[in-house]
Amino acid sequence: MAVADFCTFVLKQLPPPPQRVLEVGCGREGGLVERLAAAGYDVLGVDPHAPEGERFLQSTFQEASNSLLLEGFDAVVAGRVLHHVRPLDEGLDTLASFAPLLVVDEFAPDRIDRAAQDWYEGQYRMLRASGVEPNGPSDLDEWRERHPDLHPHDVLLAALRARYDERVLEWLPYLSRWLGGPSSESLEQTLIDAALVPLIGYRWAGVRTSATRSSAPSR
Ligand SMILES: C[S@@+](CC[C@H](N)C(=O)[O-])C[C@H]1O[C@@H](n2cnc3c(N)ncnc32)[C@H](O)[C@@H]1O
Repeated sequence: MAVADFCTFVLKQLPPPPQRVLEVGCGREGGLVERLAAAGYDVLGVDPHAPEGERFLQSTFQEASNSLLLEGFDAVVAGRVLHHVRPLDEGLDTLASFAPLLVVDEFAPDRIDRAAQDWYEGQYRMLRASGVEPNGPSDLDEWRERHPDLHPHDVLLAALRARYDERVLEWLPYLSRWLGGPSSESLEQTLIDAALVPLIGYRWAGVRTSATRSSAPSR
């Protein structure tokens, strides 16, 4: 069975609208902003590369934190951005000051082992040869050299759990999202089921602890 997309996961975690939602790291395509708005949420996407438009702010969340803090968000959504955030503790303190609920889509770069890398790079070459252009990198050794400072999953999860009570942690296939071929996800799932490659993607949701709330700046 295909993995539900991140928007479906987010909608399961959010209370019903009306709710004010901040998506950090929404990317050039605008992430989930338009889909959440269509579902009735009042959404703002913040990213230095966010598209133009009234639902977007071109900034890092840290640089915009004073104005974001005043907006009174009910939830923060963060898709594939937290593994980049440095310093991590300060960044998560800032996110926790924005809203009581955090919903995350992430991956564990540290879980990509030799078998997963060989499978991924082989699939990448096959897709290219058949005219499909994958979204991810072609060479994972070269990609690691370009991204030496991504947070391993245990570091990120520990930092999240220090501020939020974990509500959900789901592990799922990830390399197929980079590949994007018609059978990539089912092939990756078959290898995971046979314990030949690890689970690399995860989704997480947590509710801010009362200790975190009381140490957050008041708005
Ligand atoms: C891998 S992309 C993910 C885009 C989209 N959320 C997705 O899942 O397809 C990471 C995005 O996070 C943004 N980003 C990185 N650090 C950020 C920060 N401190 N504040 C806001 N956005 C940030 C980058 O500009 C980039 O667009």
